[in-house]
Amino acid sequence: MKFFVDTADIDAIKELHALGMVDGVTTNPSLIAKSGRDILEVTKEICDIVSGPVSAEVVALDAETMLAEGRKLAKIAPNIAVKVPLTWAGLQTCKTLTDEGTMVNVTLCFSANQALLAAKAGATFISPFVGRLDDINIDGMELIGDIRTIYDNYGFDTQILVASIRTANHMKDAALIGADVATAPPAVIKGMASHILTDKGLDGFMADVKKAGIKIL
Ligand code: E4P
Repeated sequence: MKFFVDTADIDAIKELHALGMVDGVTTNPSLIAKSGRDILEVTKEICDIVSGPVSAEVVALDAETMLAEGRKLAKIAPNIAVKVPLTWAGLQTCKTLTDEGTMVNVTLCFSANQALLAAKAGATFISPFVGRLDDINIDGMELIGDIRTIYDNYGFDTQILVASIRTANHMKDAALIGADVATAPPAVIKGMASHILTDKGLDGFMADVKKAGIKIL
């Protein structure tokens, strides 16, 4: 499973990238707003660090303007994936950009039927939002399983990019289902390293290191 990092925080991207943990980056208008930076500038900086797909989202709602925005975003770097919302206008934009050879990430997906339409429109990535479904007591991971089954039934190339990940368990569940990509905030990716028994075990070892005066350097 590829790891994308869901942030526009340059320092966080650099830290994870140095460990080989970043196969790509996803941003959205809220993450860009949080960065306090110009969308074109910060996206370019991310593309200079990461060679994998970097999702940059359009902000228009109509297909014509979305397409113009998408074409402008695509010019930032060859690894840009233009992110469009799962609306009819977004699907129209997806089809045109895909035909032009631009990667497209169709976002804000909350149903298997939406994912089916995105695949038919040639999306490179479909982004189902598991956390936001869990928030309204609908099992987000069940949707990932349904999309996996549908895409495998018909051999769609569209990659399932699990989004709105909130916990390390979401990462594990996405990997078990066979999602192609999971995008998560830096804290969730770092949190995957934590286990209470690792901390407890290390405390015990350190106590014995101190007691026995063990030194290596
Ligand atoms: C993904 O591409 C989205 O930017 C993101 O995962 C949304 O996550 P949220 O629901 O935690 O805002």
